[in-house]
Amino acid sequence: MNHFDLIDGALHAEGAPLSEIAEAVGTPVYVYSTATLTRHYNLLRQAVDAHRDALGGSSKDGALIAFAVKANSNLSVLATLAKLGCGADTVSEGEIRRALAAGIPADRIIFSGVGKTDAELAFAIETGVRQINVESGAELDRLIAVAAAKDAAPAIAVRVNPNIGAGGHAKITTGGATDKFGVPVEEAIALYVRATASAHVTPVGLACHIGSQITDLAPMEAAFRTIRGVVETLRARGCAVTRLDLGGGLGVPYHGQTDLPSIADYAAMCARVLDGLEVEAAFEPGRLLAANAGVLVSRVIQVNERADGRRFLVLDAGMNDLMRPALYDAFHDLVPVTPREGEAGLYDLVGPICESTDIFARDRQLAPLQAGDLVAFLSAGAYGAVLSSEYNSRPLVAEVLVDGERWAVVRPRPSYDEMWAREPKAEWL
Ligand code: LLP
Repeated sequence: MNHFDLIDGALHAEGAPLSEIAEAVGTPVYVYSTATLTRHYNLLRQAVDAHRDALGGSSKDGALIAFAVKANSNLSVLATLAKLGCGADTVSEGEIRRALAAGIPADRIIFSGVGKTDAELAFAIETGVRQINVESGAELDRLIAVAAAKDAAPAIAVRVNPNIGAGGHAKITTGGATDKFGVPVEEAIALYVRATASAHVTPVGLACHIGSQITDLAPMEAAFRTIRGVVETLRARGCAVTRLDLGGGLGVPYHGQTDLPSIADYAAMCARVLDGLEVEAAFEPGRLLAANAGVLVSRVIQVNERADGRRFLVLDAGMNDLMRPALYDAFHDLVPVTPREGEAGLYDLVGPICESTDIFARDRQLAPLQAGDLVAFLSAGAYGAVLSSEYNSRPLVAEVLVDGERWAVVRPRPSYDEMWAREPKAEWL
């Protein structure tokens, strides 16, 4: 459920009319809903807390929910989640800095990622992040060297590649044998044993993330059972394992699907697998918290009608603003902000970019639309603005956060002068 609803025939974000925001800020613009972010966080919090014995370990706060910052890294979105007690899953120094700037304490920040530089590892150690998820033997060697130079021993988890991939598209699967992420089971065991022997890392647990937009719990359950087996093997070898980072990945209803696993089913499955293991779980949801908490509002530039009947709805949002359809053939519902009466028709939804891949959808059945109308792409709060660019010299898309009837521009669209100012001319030109 989200808080984007038609009120008196006009689409609102909570109590704020999207047309008012579009008039004031211009289009395209991402609009996020505080109430929806809060609702999603609380639903997951409650679902996880319902299984405190199995998922909370010895932590007084219960399992950690660490928002995957990559899904939506706007500082006001992060600050909204920080106020709720949410942590952060980060994959770069920039993301750690953002999480800190938004008020997320270091001891709730997990540092993941397949290619962390020495400088980033050093920064994470200095910051005192909760844990560094190590993804390879080569990385462990570098981390030990960096930590030794600081006489530190940061907490680490070893990311296991369980050879079980899943997800909504081949390009967002991470747990398969040929995916670059994590360490295969046997190597992970050896790595953990090796890390335990080092004075400069403190292995605390394992991590696992097999993919994104997962709509079937079975592959996740199989992966977590594999991880449980690794914990038991490690403990039998005398290694301490107190934390399990179960990653993110739970899918959301982009098509209005009603048959997806619920958040409660997901938490119950995790609890079933971890029951009796006495570990503290961590969750790294990105899409689950943010996707349906955001829309991308755009204006129809014109409708191009061909003699053969094909109709292109040309929008002022392009693939530079919302990359998901071009990258992963992703589906985003498009709805008019103020629906008109009349017969629905078929449209191809396209942006203004000079690329054939700048197409959001073919043959979409939509209520009648005209030049100047406002439309909204739904479920655009995750992996939307974060993937945007200024391709074709289009100013970076603006972002707005709504809370009840109030709203604020939380990333202004840059002016052209501001864009040029970022590119100082070479002195000889
Ligand atoms: N943890 C790790 C280690 C991850 O790599 C990811 C996402 C997450 C957590 C969060 O996953 P989520 O809960 O959002 O599924 N740009 C793609 C999705 C890429 C996901 C990458 N990793 C898309 O727009 O579909």
